[in-house]
Amino acid sequence: MKVIHATSYSDLSRKAANIISAQVILKPHSVLGLATGSTPIGTYKQIIEWYNKGDIDFSSTITVNLDEYVGLAPTNEQSYRYFMNENLFRHINIPLENTHVPSGLAEDMEAECVNYDALITNLGGIDLQLLGIGHNGHIGFNEPNNAFEKTTHIVSLGESTIQANARFFDDIKEVPNKAITMGIKSIMQAKKILLIANGPDKKDIIEKALYGPVTPSVPASILQLHPDLTVICCFE
Ligand code: F6R
Repeated sequence: MKVIHATSYSDLSRKAANIISAQVILKPHSVLGLATGSTPIGTYKQIIEWYNKGDIDFSSTITVNLDEYVGLAPTNEQSYRYFMNENLFRHINIPLENTHVPSGLAEDMEAECVNYDALITNLGGIDLQLLGIGHNGHIGFNEPNNAFEKTTHIVSLGESTIQANARFFDDIKEVPNKAITMGIKSIMQAKKILLIANGPDKKDIIEKALYGPVTPSVPASILQLHPDLTVICCFE
């Protein structure tokens, strides 16, 4: 595990963007695992800036996102598909058909879970997975639990997650209470993992996750067992 302390959010974003860009430059047909949330926005902005300078080509890159709210259409501004299109995909030359976000609207959500895992396997697995971390230690929408959920599954969102995500909605009542998320196994099978955490409010959970016991009550603690984990954090 490599832990890098960034001096500011823009330093964190540049460092994370450097790692993702290097991955795509070295292996243009990389499978990138991507995250939404507020933390990666600066990273995506930096990537777009370098793309506009002609430094990176995404024409053969493939992406798989971690999660999506159940019940939100891709056109809903709060959906993670919408977020990814707006914050990254439409600004770079990645073919939209190369970008994958689990569907929150599938008629058969259980089948969607199985199909999403099969998709990742058929793509040959994830080369580099970008992760944020929730205040309760969630990664993707893998919430604290009695056991690590391995594969893509449907989750009921915890109260603290609903409250944290309410900032993106007009009313907390609009926050969906279910989501579809990649499981811990899908995440842990990524060849490389890049975890980013920003702000003083993330200090405690990062310490617990990286240096505390490995336990499903802190889902991100499993990352301690990953052979190629880089953490970039800024607690300023
Ligand atoms: C988003 C995701 C979540 C976030 C986490 C941190 O796709 O999977 O696990 O990474 O909730 O969110 P922010 O970055 O908003 O603090």
